[in-house]
Amino acid sequence: MRWAKLRQEGSLVVRRASQARIGEAIAWAEKNGFDFIVIDTPGRDIAGMKRALDLADFMLTPSQPSPLDLQATAPLRRLWSVSGTPASIALTMVIRETLPRTRNYVERYAEQGAVLPAIIGRRVQYLDAMERGLGVSEYRPGDIGDREMRRLLAAIFAEATKQKVA
Ligand SMILES: Nc1ncnc2c1ncn2[C@@H]1O[C@H](COP(=O)(O)OP(=O)(O)OP(=O)(O)O)[C@@H](O)[C@H]1O
Ligand SMILES: [Mg+2]
Repeated sequence: MRWAKLRQEGSLVVRRASQARIGEAIAWAEKNGFDFIVIDTPGRDIAGMKRALDLADFMLTPSQPSPLDLQATAPLRRLWSVSGTPASIALTMVIRETLPRTRNYVERYAEQGAVLPAIIGRRVQYLDAMERGLGVSEYRPGDIGDREMRRLLAAIFAEATKQKVA
């Protein structure tokens, strides 16, 4: 919410909603003409997340290439299996996409469920954008962070289509 307070009034609106009222918050946004809605949840409360998952068109879970993150996301994959909503991991905080250890983590995540081919690097652009109350694409349009987010969005749409067909 601190990030939201830094922002100028604009087309992007940030609202806080309790888990019990996510449905109402989505209905409000749809009624008010928003066509792209992001529900940002805490990573831990798996039980509470089920409702948000069922309401969503896609569930994206950013996770790091580390043994702890690989383990910590296991309960999420069990949640995916009890919902019809397409879902996937996106690797984030990646130091170098081409490193063999990054590739190795992509494979290990893939053994446990869907992982997007688009990877998010560990970059100062995300921190600098955040500090200004901006998204990385607003902060440096056309720069590497912006391009990475566009690739991520394209990968989400592709994966959603693939999982809906399957
Ligand atoms: N791709 C990135 N590159 C550099 N730093 C990042 C990146 N992603 C996240 N960070 C850093 O990691 C911190 C946590 O990021 P983020 O808020 O996305 O995590 P979170 O798991 O949603 O945390 P919370 O539990 O607070 O919601 C941020 O403060 C930011 O500094
Ligand atoms: Mg968060």
